[in-house]
Amino acid sequence: MSEPMIKTIELIVNRAPVADRVEPRTSLADFLREQRMLCGTNIGCEQGVCGACTIEVDGVPTRSCITPAVTCAGSTVRTIEGFDDDATMNELRAAFSAEHALQCGYCTPGMLMTARDIVTRLPDADDARVRLELSGNLCRCTGYVGIVRAIRRVLDARRARAATPLAVAAVTA
Ligand code: FES
Ligand code: FES
Repeated sequence: MSEPMIKTIELIVNRAPVADRVEPRTSLADFLREQRMLCGTNIGCEQGVCGACTIEVDGVPTRSCITPAVTCAGSTVRTIEGFDDDATMNELRAAFSAEHALQCGYCTPGMLMTARDIVTRLPDADDARVRLELSGNLCRCTGYVGIVRAIRRVLDARRARAATPLAVAAVTA
């Protein structure tokens, strides 16, 4: 039996340059979890349906379970671990806690990835739009009400800050 064709890829993971060997069949999720020890990315369905494995590739939320790692050569990848110093992500984390937007937490890393994309890309999103954008992230625990509220909390806070930039500047000066 012939050996699988192993390839070395170079990419950026959480701001650090990485070079590593991957088989053609290795998913980005397995690569991150098993070769980079970035286990904050959860794996659920492994067929692109549940959204648990959502991470950012070149700034776009991406399902890492159906993305071959080999196709990410030259890309910039950001996992939940790469957002520790991100103000928007920290605001979302606090809002998820305040609104009881998680129970078992299995969906949460992927939810936070999608939530951050919503609040940065769609500042005027209403509840219906938030729910539509969340339709690719499944949660078996919460019923989504707390998740939608948490995202709305951050959207509302961002809108309030945008509406009163002078007041915010005075507070943060
Ligand atoms: Fe990737 Fe479900 S594990 S979408
Ligand atoms: Fe358990 Fe979402 S909190 S699946």
